[in-house]
Amino acid sequence: MAMMVPLDSANKISFNRPISDGDTVIVYERHDSMRAVKVTPGSDLQNRFGLFKHSDWIGKPFGSKVFSNKRGFVFLLAPTPELWTLVLSHRTQILYLPDISFLISYLEIVPGCVVLESGTGSGSLSTSLARAVAPSGHVFTFDFHEQRASSARADFERNGLSSLITVSVRDIQGEGFPEEHEGRVDAVFLDLPQPWLAVPSASKCLKPDAVLCSFSPCIEQVQRTCETLRQSFSDIRTFEVLVRSYEIREQHFAKRVPEEDGSPVGPPPQKRKQSALTATKSEKTESNISVMAKPCNTARGHTGYLTFGRLTVL
Ligand SMILES: C[S@@+](CC[C@H](N)C(=O)[O-])C[C@H]1O[C@@H](n2cnc3c(N)ncnc32)[C@H](O)[C@@H]1O
Repeated sequence: MAMMVPLDSANKISFNRPISDGDTVIVYERHDSMRAVKVTPGSDLQNRFGLFKHSDWIGKPFGSKVFSNKRGFVFLLAPTPELWTLVLSHRTQILYLPDISFLISYLEIVPGCVVLESGTGSGSLSTSLARAVAPSGHVFTFDFHEQRASSARADFERNGLSSLITVSVRDIQGEGFPEEHEGRVDAVFLDLPQPWLAVPSASKCLKPDAVLCSFSPCIEQVQRTCETLRQSFSDIRTFEVLVRSYEIREQHFAKRVPEEDGSPVGPPPQKRKQSALTATKSEKTESNISVMAKPCNTARGHTGYLTFGRLTVL
């Protein structure tokens, strides 16, 4: 069985073991080209770099660089929640790492916590929540869409998360969370179209001083959620998490150097419409490598607002 949250002998999460038959690996070509593959002896992976035999992968550590019949290569990475989020099949809009990492931290989720989530969607957030609460905590996640719940359950099973996540079909806006969770929950996360309808039930489930988070793409949803939160929550705050990633490249320039007789370097070549390549003999040049940093054009913009509230102790 593939284990996304494998525990080592010290009960710590670890992928420090060889790849085996049935494991899910992330076949990584580059940061924007990767996919999840189930290791199956007798199967092959064919891509633009050639043909890879799964049987060659068994016994290698996660992180290995493996070669095709044409000496092309890919990396076999561990299916961490971070990478799973990038390769999972999108059945809904999903949460991405900037929001996920921020909300797990702000919800104060640590190993052993019990977390309620709705809706489950594609299970992107649930997967990270499971790792955060492992090995002794639990995520109870609810979606009213049967097929989505069932597909998410299958993914969690495939990734060895079943002992950490329970998926149930339930209309959380209409019915609230089940009574059995009342007063027992360390954190609640809502990704629902009308989250304010679920806030009263969530407040009954949270332990005193515990935190709720609601994700909404529109500010009007945030306003309504905040109005409801004010009835029983304090420290209500809303964030938009934006991350800017950079491309770092080496750029070769021709640098002009002073003459040996000490005469000064003239104006820069471009001012005289002359590139380094066309510098005259008397203008000495030397190769110079600079590192260029440029924000990526593809950086993700607005995804949604994260609103947090802390349950007031009366
Ligand atoms: C945007 S998706 C959640 C994505 C998820 N956070 C992720 O990272 O993969 C919203 C989900 O809420 C579910 N949903 C909408 N209304 C609901 C309700 N009243 N009760 C339970 N689930 C609901 C939808 O079926 C959908 O799967």
